[in-house]
Amino acid sequence: MSPKILILGSGGREHALCWHLKKTNIAVECAPGSDAIAELCPTWNFKDFEDLSQKIKDKKITEVIVGPEKYLAEGVSDFLIQKKIKVFGPTKTAALLETDKAFAKSFLFKHKIPTARSVTAETAKELTTEIKKFLPPYVIKASGLAAGKGVWIGSNQKDAIAFGSEMLKEHASLVLEEFLKGEELSYFVLIDGKHHKFFGAAQDHKRLLENDEGPNTGGMGAYSPVPLLNPQLQTKIEKKIIQPVLKGLEKDSIFYRGFLFVGIMVVADEPYVLEFNCRLGDPETQALLLRLKTPLTEILSQLESGSEKRVEFLPGVSLNVVIAAKGYPENPGKDFELVIDRVPKECFVFHSGTKRTQKNWLPNGGRLFSINTIQNSLIDCQNAIYPWIAELPFLKKVTYRKDIGVKAYRHLRALN
Ligand code: AMP
Ligand code: GLY
Repeated sequence: MSPKILILGSGGREHALCWHLKKTNIAVECAPGSDAIAELCPTWNFKDFEDLSQKIKDKKITEVIVGPEKYLAEGVSDFLIQKKIKVFGPTKTAALLETDKAFAKSFLFKHKIPTARSVTAETAKELTTEIKKFLPPYVIKASGLAAGKGVWIGSNQKDAIAFGSEMLKEHASLVLEEFLKGEELSYFVLIDGKHHKFFGAAQDHKRLLENDEGPNTGGMGAYSPVPLLNPQLQTKIEKKIIQPVLKGLEKDSIFYRGFLFVGIMVVADEPYVLEFNCRLGDPETQALLLRLKTPLTEILSQLESGSEKRVEFLPGVSLNVVIAAKGYPENPGKDFELVIDRVPKECFVFHSGTKRTQKNWLPNGGRLFSINTIQNSLIDCQNAIYPWIAELPFLKKVTYRKDIGVKAYRHLRALN
């Protein structure tokens, strides 16, 4: 049976996944999708997982790829597996690596995978006692999913305790962690039980403002490949992180099938796990998929058959810049129209939070869309994207970072 893939989700990552599948001549549908995705492929809604599974069967979908963590946390994979539907996305238990930071930290310590020293606190009193054993800046993380708002970093102990107490109203526990000073990297693998494949790395820009200032966001732009990831560092990541993760999953009898996105902090050439995500990143996916040469469906079949073939990428560099509504992440504006046209050659727009009117697009979320390109160099990418952004008729209503990719220059200079 020829493959027909369902992408679950509705954001920029899912838009890019549908674009890639269509480009590689694979039948694709998306649920619930978005107005932008509907311009590429059929989209449809579902009431609950029962309804979803019925529609998957009716529409003769051969495999489901799960986009956001929300569905994984709700157990969509467990449900679909029970219904004998093939799904690329881990079960609820395996997804605890992302959805429960206390679980992830204990997994990391148990399997001796490098990560920041940390303790788990269940009450404000415990936090007050434990924080004295750490030096500032303090890192406090809500244990459960918190849509990018679950991490606080700062040097004031009182503020740290206040944030922690607030978080404990909604989360059973929190993680207090040693601050790691270094450079971050998003490292992606696909896992099918014992097999895995490297799916590329990207560098995201999580803070809202240039020079990594301002509040944390879902991600304001990414580029790939990452010159920080030299072959020696990649060998260390595979040996000290990926292999022990795979062995740890096996020892703990956790079957994992899906993407694994490891957030890594590189400190003095040594990789430390900051967090696991049991899915692809957004906007990292957009950067990775522009470079991807081997079709995703082929990678999935190779992974399943245990083939050692490597995932191939196109030469060149990809980069994207996220355009967010002014006021994002706290209070994004929505009273303006987005005229998205005259997109330069070799550039692609992936929508995250928009809806269609008859003529134009309207905001439907904080991060609106990203403009993406693949070129010979980072500078060529920046030159292709930034002049177009500067001419956007709704420029005054949006915010974006003007320094996406700049951090890479230092490593490129070191390589030359
Ligand atoms: P997380 O959700 O755990 O990835 O944290 C969000 C962001 O907070 C990360 O991307 C880092 O920029 C920062 N962060 C998290 N943990 C640490 C840490 N231990 N040291 C320094 N920065 C951190
Ligand atoms: N860009 C970071 C994430 O997807 O969580």
